[in-house]
Amino acid sequence: LLFLLGPADLKGKSVLITAGPTREPIDPVRFLSNRSSGKMGFALAQAAQRRGAAVTLVTGPVALADPWGIDVIRVTTAEEMAAAVLGQAPAMDVIIKSAAVADFRPASCQSLKIKKTNQGLRLDLIKNRDILAELGHRRQPHQVLVGFAAESHDHLSEGQRKLREKNLDLIVVNDILGSETGFDVATNQVTLIGRKEIHPLPLLSKEATADRILDRVVTLLGEKAI
Ligand code: CTP
Ligand code: CA
Repeated sequence: LLFLLGPADLKGKSVLITAGPTREPIDPVRFLSNRSSGKMGFALAQAAQRRGAAVTLVTGPVALADPWGIDVIRVTTAEEMAAAVLGQAPAMDVIIKSAAVADFRPASCQSLKIKKTNQGLRLDLIKNRDILAELGHRRQPHQVLVGFAAESHDHLSEGQRKLREKNLDLIVVNDILGSETGFDVATNQVTLIGRKEIHPLPLLSKEATADRILDRVVTLLGEKAI
């Protein structure tokens, strides 16, 4: 039975995972968002729970039910995600940010629905705070911090830059122009970039990808414990 359940190598660890998109309101009926089904983050949460971790999942709006045995916090905007994540972070051993956070939000949300009276419409956008970069800058030495990056070009160099600039241990890079990978599909082909190594994974289900990411996390936790 133990063999069937797999390793309990995250037992005793607190793991925080973010999933899904955020939504930034424009008016009462409209928002800006990113493409993200939340499947990768939910798969990570379930795999970590199965491997013995106490899992908190902070998710934006997705069409997925709360997974069993996981503390789920549902948020809408990037600001709400930042508040939930930064509040939970100090108690965590591992933080994995697979959410597709909106980089910008409308400078103001109109309280009345915008009518199509004009020829066009200009929206003023302001930058959202980078939750992952803030986590990286206030990271405790024992914490393992994992980011994601969806790139349409230069995915390896962009991944390495984000790993360095956000002070991460690992970044999971998705080449979004590749086929059968990324949005709304069950499979993923990602590259894991660490401080010392680049490790391309084959095309795998999101569940199998989640387990490969957690294998690296377990190794990193072990290295920090020495
Ligand atoms: N991220 C975040 N907060 C933001 C934007 C991004 O926490 N406001 C996190 C994402 O959850 C992801 C990582 O940062 O883990 C990389 O996101 P990505 O969009 O690839 O990178 P950016 O730094 O936003 O750069 P750009 O979109 O310009 O490529
Ligand atoms: Ca971004």
